[in-house]
Amino acid sequence: MIIVISGTPGVGKTIVSKELVKRLNLKYFHLSQFVIDKKLYIEYDEERQSYIIDEDKVKDELEKILKESDNIVIEAIYPSLIPKADIVVVLRKNPIVLYNELKNRGWSKLKIAENVEAEILGVISQEAKEAFNGKVCEIDVTKISIDQIINKILNKECDYFIDWLSDTEIQSFLENLDNIISSHENNI
Ligand SMILES: Nc1ncnc2c1ncn2[C@@H]1O[C@H](COP(=O)(O)OP(=O)(O)O)[C@@H](O)[C@H]1O
Ligand SMILES: [Mg+2]
Repeated sequence: MIIVISGTPGVGKTIVSKELVKRLNLKYFHLSQFVIDKKLYIEYDEERQSYIIDEDKVKDELEKILKESDNIVIEAIYPSLIPKADIVVVLRKNPIVLYNELKNRGWSKLKIAENVEAEILGVISQEAKEAFNGKVCEIDVTKISIDQIINKILNKECDYFIDWLSDTEIQSFLENLDNIISSHENNI
């Protein structure tokens, strides 16, 4: 059983993955940490405070890992890097709630704005659906407990129409984020 837990930073991937690992007695695999430990990146982007991943190397290494063990929960921001999976869960969180939580991480304004914008636009959800058509389960975790999230995953109670952009408050919020991102681009 290969379970992928994906989603924008801050949605709850780590806590949900670790709980699933405990309940199902699977191995936990944190893709970002693995990329850093094995130096599977091209360079560090100072501005975004993040690594630029060497995708080919990561895919090769993952093939090897999954050959050795396929009873695993993989926490990953980029689901398309994973060669195979039985289910790909994409955790979704209301972008305004997410924004307020990410502010506590001490990240730069640009990094927060880019990640929250990606959540609004459903970037990871889209990537997951392109790579794993029919195996994606999205869950809106905004108002539910970890236990409820786990039960939804185990019972495949997925949410099918998560569309933050239909909310007018989120539409204007997106404009503010766009301003943050474009003012940064104009400064370089
Ligand atoms: N459904 C939830 N209920 C309460 N706290 C949560 C929930 N989901 C996540 N958290 C908390 O939010 C923070 C971010 O979760 P984390 O698992 O680190 O997210 P990610 O791995 O996606 O970046 C953690 O402090 C976590 O304990
Ligand atoms: Mg995490």
